[in-house]
Amino acid sequence: SKEKIALFTIFGGTGDLAQRKLYPSLFKLYQKGYLREHFAVIGTARRPWTDEHYHEVIATSLASLNADPAAVTQFASHFYYQSHDVTDAQHYVTLKKLSAKLDAQYGLQGNRIFYLAMAPNFFGTIAQHLRSEQILTTNGFNRVIIEKPFGHDFASAKELNDQLTATFNENQIYRIDHYLGKEMIQNISAIRFGNSIWEALWNNRYISNVQVTLSEKLGVEERAVYYDNSGALRDMVQNHIMQIISLLTMDQPVEFTEHDIDVEKVKALRSLRTLKPEEVPANFVRGQYAATDQVKDYRSEDKISPDSNTDTFVAGKLMVDNYRWSGVPFYIRTGKRLADKFTRIDIVFKRPIVNIFNHEDVQKNDDENSRLNANVLTINVEPTEGFELRMNAKHVGQGFATTPVKLNFALDSQSVSDSPEAYERLLHDVLNGDATNFTHWDEVAYSWKFVDTIQKYWDEHTPTFPNYQPGSMGPTAADDLLQRDGHEWIYKS
Ligand code: BG6
Repeated sequence: SKEKIALFTIFGGTGDLAQRKLYPSLFKLYQKGYLREHFAVIGTARRPWTDEHYHEVIATSLASLNADPAAVTQFASHFYYQSHDVTDAQHYVTLKKLSAKLDAQYGLQGNRIFYLAMAPNFFGTIAQHLRSEQILTTNGFNRVIIEKPFGHDFASAKELNDQLTATFNENQIYRIDHYLGKEMIQNISAIRFGNSIWEALWNNRYISNVQVTLSEKLGVEERAVYYDNSGALRDMVQNHIMQIISLLTMDQPVEFTEHDIDVEKVKALRSLRTLKPEEVPANFVRGQYAATDQVKDYRSEDKISPDSNTDTFVAGKLMVDNYRWSGVPFYIRTGKRLADKFTRIDIVFKRPIVNIFNHEDVQKNDDENSRLNANVLTINVEPTEGFELRMNAKHVGQGFATTPVKLNFALDSQSVSDSPEAYERLLHDVLNGDATNFTHWDEVAYSWKFVDTIQKYWDEHTPTFPNYQPGSMGPTAADDLLQRDGHEWIYKS
């Protein structure tokens, strides 16, 4: 049977993440039969909720799914609430008793999943108490799921990791990067290693440059306090973008397994050229949004300091120093209050050297503009999910001119709605003990080391902010970054 057996303990059970993502995802796993009789959930937080109230919260968090009310009630009956303070040892004594009781009641075989949906400064305390109060079992599995931020630089990330590894082994730790749960991010490996045409061209002989764009339309919204201490570089580049870069650049894993993929990702991240401090300004651009008639500038947002130098935009050029990628720039960009909400990856191939269709005009052939267009493979991650390939074809009609055409594949709306949401997929992976789509410590470490150089330079040099208009694609310096190399962004607003 596909049924999985486990006790979930969610620290931060009253929080936003639990209500928006975790309860709906657990419910979907329940509807699909991955969770049936043999599971229970303990929600814990400081607020003094009763089980009855907790069940109402669960039902409310599922409201948009329009599920059968009887199924919702049945599902919610597996949830138990325990109020306490995670720094109080007594809490864990109660938790241990409740865990043992539920284990016996639901036949959970000692399988435990601890979800730390809380601020990271509590991770160490919780892990330590789980061990000292012997809440970890010896007859089943013990797995811990943590959310970002994993520190704010390499040193703090290491400290956090040391605290966790005092209790858990690396193979018991599941670090969520929700981008790794997205259908089209997982598809990067499928297209690369499932098609000889791509893998044959996936190198510096055929690829001119690669562009990764994670664009957001909204501003900083409710997470101002966190965001102002983080900024776009730490919030999006250190984790999501570095993971995407490693999936794009890694060599073929021997087998498609957690271990083999990690080996290749780490090799890829280690091959990234580390910048010297003085090279930062030429390779990385930061931005902060200004005001328009409709929206406030970043510094005027609620809970943001009026002289904040936090980056709400970042663009950068990464070089990978190995045989496959030498000479190929990887351009990345992400930011708040940009033109639209989307994620896409553009693989820009080299243009044909000669345009034979213009051959009579030798002069023209030297002119950049008379050259054929580059082929571009676009991986549309969201909201459209699919691939697009730009090619040159004959212009219809008399004479012989070429024109760009597009081959297009997009998942239909049924497939998109059937496809599990990132958190559902990732929780399922944890139940299966499969950490392929999670971030491993060595990947986190190399990503931080790369990002630290840039952040440090920025912290030491005052920017001129604000420097971009909401609704644009960031400051013009982000366009200059490519122009200097003779390239341009494929997506323009
Ligand atoms: C999160 C960031 O990791 O990713 C947010 O903290 C950002 O600032 C979010 O909005 C974007 O995720 P998605 O799935 O909406 O592209």
